[in-house]
Amino acid sequence: MICLGVEATAHTFGVAVVDGKGRVLSNERDTYRPKKGWGIVPMDARNHHEEKASKVMEAALKKAGKAMEDVDIIAFSQGPGLPPCLYAGMNFSVELAKKTKKPLLGVNHCIAHIEIGRLTTKLKDPVTLYVSGANTQIIAHAAGKYRIFGETQDIGIGNALDKFGREAGLTFPYGPEIEKHASGGRWIGLPYVVKGMDLSFSGIVTEAIKRREKGEKLKDVCFSIQETMFAMVTEVIERALAHTGKSEVMLTGGVAANKRLQEMIEIMCRERGARSASVPWEYCGDNAAMIAWTGIIAHRAKQKPLNLKKAEVLPRWRTDQVDADWV
Ligand code: ATP
Ligand code: FE2
Repeated sequence: MICLGVEATAHTFGVAVVDGKGRVLSNERDTYRPKKGWGIVPMDARNHHEEKASKVMEAALKKAGKAMEDVDIIAFSQGPGLPPCLYAGMNFSVELAKKTKKPLLGVNHCIAHIEIGRLTTKLKDPVTLYVSGANTQIIAHAAGKYRIFGETQDIGIGNALDKFGREAGLTFPYGPEIEKHASGGRWIGLPYVVKGMDLSFSGIVTEAIKRREKGEKLKDVCFSIQETMFAMVTEVIERALAHTGKSEVMLTGGVAANKRLQEMIEIMCRERGARSASVPWEYCGDNAAMIAWTGIIAHRAKQKPLNLKKAEVLPRWRTDQVDADWV
């Protein structure tokens, strides 16, 4: 079984070819870069995706050594994401499915992050921390679905770090820059905002910016913002472990690259006799291999192909709306 996957929920347009054994034969992408100082402009991202789509697909097939005839199913990221980007991915996939007469499956982007993580880390049934620019979720499988045990109530942890980095005059990419500056910093105390199992980051950013303006050292503020935010997510993960009785933690998303975050979670896991692992960098950010692999899983779980005339994008599709009874 060969699946061609298409990812287009935000910055990245990706196409990948994955086989039924979970071998990634190719994983190509082209990422939209906003103009300097800007965030993502959804219509510009859509134009980027439409422009690059065919080239990325050809590269993916070529690298995999496959032709469209070898492909059994096509899967695409149906949501959640920015509607203009999602449309670019869906329109491209629907056209391809029509032309080649292959079944087309819609895949949930967040679940795809978890499935490629389970494939590459070999963790079986982890509590997952998904921390990217826009997302901060603590997810675990329970009673047939991936359920969100905790999440941000405002902005994602990556965007929070980026906002502070920009205001503090650091250079892009901000997350790794803050990590560098944090080394050797001193604790200055910032608000710690855990509400039940949910988190909130925007007040911390505001306070951190104020502290910096009042003359606190950059390295101290960078250190403290990391310590605070990462301790918050570690606390929620620990409670999710206790509640579900699971013994594995998986880290994914761009922020999972942070060594201090990894360390805090490792320490917490060690103390509980649990195990943690980070998804390899290539599969941590948005990529199409995760969509192709989840397409294969969904196909095996008897998910019906979409009616090409009625296909729709699902910008607010939640993780716990998908029946994931394959776990
Ligand atoms: P989303 O998938 O939510 O739309 P995205 O595509 O921007 O967001 P990713 O590429 O997964 O998400 O992650 C990007 C984020 O990761 C940025 O906010 C960046 O600052 C952050 N990041 C990257 N490396 C590090 C690091 N070493 N420490 C902390 N944050 C980091
Ligand atoms: Fe993502």
